[in-house]
Amino acid sequence: MANKVALVTGAQAGIGAACAKRLARDGVAVGVLDLKAELCADTVQAIRDAGGEAIALGADISNRAEVKAAVQQLRETFGPITIVVNNAGVTDFVPFEEINEDRWEVVYKINVLGQIIVTQEVLPDMKAKGWGRVVMISSSSAQTGAVGMTTYSGSKGAVVTMTKTLAQELGPLGITVNNIPPGSVMGTIMSEANRHRFPIPEQQLLQAIPVGRMGEPNDIANACAWLCHEDTGYVNGQTIGVNGGRVVS
Ligand SMILES: NC(=O)c1ccc[n+]([C@@H]2O[C@H](COP(=O)([O-])OP(=O)(O)OC[C@H]3O[C@@H](n4cnc5c(N)ncnc54)[C@H](O)[C@@H]3O)[C@@H](O)[C@H]2O)c1
Repeated sequence: MANKVALVTGAQAGIGAACAKRLARDGVAVGVLDLKAELCADTVQAIRDAGGEAIALGADISNRAEVKAAVQQLRETFGPITIVVNNAGVTDFVPFEEINEDRWEVVYKINVLGQIIVTQEVLPDMKAKGWGRVVMISSSSAQTGAVGMTTYSGSKGAVVTMTKTLAQELGPLGITVNNIPPGSVMGTIMSEANRHRFPIPEQQLLQAIPVGRMGEPNDIANACAWLCHEDTGYVNGQTIGVNGGRVVS
């Protein structure tokens, strides 16, 4: 995977940081993007300490001008970008009757529109190379539904369906598009902040996971790296659940 360049969004910590580090281990130069470049310092340092290449980028993925500038910075530093991991996202726990237009808009603007903007801005490089890998991070809540998470699970459902459509549009150009709906991944900013809000108590959740443990960021990163590999060009438009067997399809 040497000479390849990836953009990983929402990569200051958690799943995004694990994906960035894992791709860097495979020889990929990585743009580590989060809301502010300063937030990405630890991830970038960890990659460099391990002998990899990375730069920190700041952008709100729902703001096209900011994304455009970050993508250009990455392109100028390492060259054309042919791998995108659309990981940045926000969650929302709110009873259905309390959803309002503002909350709906925030969640969909980041989780859905953000993934569209980032992919669009990188697409010219992939088209020029005739090769690309797009990995969307969705959520197992899109597969099963989740009480109190109508906006979030709905937005992630859109990601699952967008993957299918985009895979058909971009496949002929040598670009694959797949999505990973993680199960419950602990040790991330999102999961730690919302631990007390999960609709199902952790102990009960654990019992429903056949492999007998909660997920870790590296579980998602390993699947992500596989989807980005040269060898997986025939995997396209798929939903690759990484959830210990809790959701089987
Ligand atoms: N942790 C889980 O159990 C779990 C389960 C299913 C899906 N997911 C999904 O995995 C992804 C990563 O989640 P995580 O658990 O590592 O959470 P996290 O909160 O640690 O990571 C999300 C990152 O996205 C960034 N971000 C948010 N809005 C942004 C924006 N507008 N522009 C740029 N960056 C932005 C945040 O700053 C954060 O660093 C998310 O899309 C999440 O929905 C997580």
